[in-house]
Amino acid sequence: MDGNGRWAEKRGLPRKFGHREGAKTFKKIVRYCKKIGIKYASFFAFSTENWKRPKEEVDAIIELFEQYIDDVRSHVDEEVRVIFLGDKSVFSSELQKKMVSLEEDSKEFDKMTLLLAINYGGKDDIVHSVKQIAKLVREGTINPEQIDEGLVSSFLYTKGLPDVDFIIRPSGEQRISNFLIWQSAYAEFYFTDVLWPDFSERELDKALLDYASRGRRFGGI
Ligand code: IPE
Ligand code: MG
Repeated sequence: MDGNGRWAEKRGLPRKFGHREGAKTFKKIVRYCKKIGIKYASFFAFSTENWKRPKEEVDAIIELFEQYIDDVRSHVDEEVRVIFLGDKSVFSSELQKKMVSLEEDSKEFDKMTLLLAINYGGKDDIVHSVKQIAKLVREGTINPEQIDEGLVSSFLYTKGLPDVDFIIRPSGEQRISNFLIWQSAYAEFYFTDVLWPDFSERELDKALLDYASRGRRFGGI
């Protein structure tokens, strides 16, 4: 979800107003994804690199995130399973509890799974998996020859979930910025200049139509 800051700056507003608008867009697009039958939708809310930003901006983003959790919790009947991707341990224990209980309380919902990446980094995800595998090797539970792609995947934050099919990057940037790098090895990409707060149901339709026209061969012919 990129372009919040520029959206605000274009209007002469502080960046946090852009994040507030971006959060509204996020809720709107989640509802739309559910409506049109998307089974898994992942959103990159905050990266392991975003801590470099001024504290005021970081605090504003975390606050929006916390508000969102409270919102979702107040109508858990929306049938959306929520999973957080990333290292939760940096957040206050209160926020961590809210995150874990939302994951727990929504885990039986199967209409749609919403993956929200917060304090997430693709490289960090892989390091986190490798550390756990290294422990298994040290204990003698497995030997190094048994390490394969499936095992690495099974220790990622996305364990048990399908790989990424399609990535939409708004705001004119053409890079992945450390998002789900392992899981998107064969993903299709779509870039649009639209800033995230301006992203709409129509933009998503346009992107999906483009995706539908692509032939996916996964290295085959
Ligand atoms: C939101 O957009 C992405 C987050 C890290 C929350 P930005 O804040 O990166 O907006 P731009 O790129 O400065 O416009
Ligand atoms: Mg940006």
